[in-house]
Amino acid sequence: MRKPIIAGNWKMFKLVGDSVAMITALKPLVANASQVEIVIAPPYPSIKTVADRAEGSNIQFAAQDISTEIKHGAHTGEVCGDMLKDVGCTHVIIGHSERRSMYGDTSQVVNRKMRAALNFGLAPIVCVGETLEERDAGREQDVVGNQLDESLSGLTREEMLRSIVAYEPVWAIGTGRTATPAQAQEMHRFIRQWLSARFDNQIADATRILYGGSVKPDNVSDLMSEPDIDGALVGGASLEAESFAKLVNYNR
Ligand code: PGA
Repeated sequence: MRKPIIAGNWKMFKLVGDSVAMITALKPLVANASQVEIVIAPPYPSIKTVADRAEGSNIQFAAQDISTEIKHGAHTGEVCGDMLKDVGCTHVIIGHSERRSMYGDTSQVVNRKMRAALNFGLAPIVCVGETLEERDAGREQDVVGNQLDESLSGLTREEMLRSIVAYEPVWAIGTGRTATPAQAQEMHRFIRQWLSARFDNQIADATRILYGGSVKPDNVSDLMSEPDIDGALVGGASLEAESFAKLVNYNR
């Protein structure tokens, strides 16, 4: 029902040449993966080149961010959604914890970016997740619930059907400390219940919820065997063709 998504977030890694080498190596390794959707988010300067190289393949592309603005104008440093589509993006990651913690992306900003993405027909991958301090205080569901309330504020059912949620506990990102499958499942279940309460059961059943945070070839199958985990958003292990291909081709 919910087709899994394995998404790679290259963050601020790889020059154009490295990006092309990676895509060239990856394509044959994932050519037979028809049971998952594959999405890669290169840095802006590489998107057009790698998307051109991957044309006709089963790899889709995402941007790592988007402007809140929907009209071209004097917004130095910003990139508008139609520009992302123009270079081959179908998806966009919004509200990654690094953007939230280092670049001032509050949930209000995330909400505006969601609307901008949806306005242009891009599929937003909206990220939520608690810090270690918040989890230790037993507040993880409150925090994620608030992030969802604010980030998805005003979305229609139809817009939610085009959106993807990624649960990324901040303490698990880039730390090698993955959430256990049970910890991840508990939060994914909570997010699905939130979707059911805010929208309805049909939306809750249809929405893909990805897990992110130190997903590696040796833990992906256990995570994916949980009923509410519909894919992975991967940083470190997405940077090499072999490890990313292992994630895409995980044992079901
Ligand atoms: P990681 O990053 O896989 O390196 O932990 C995940 C992410 O930031 O999306």
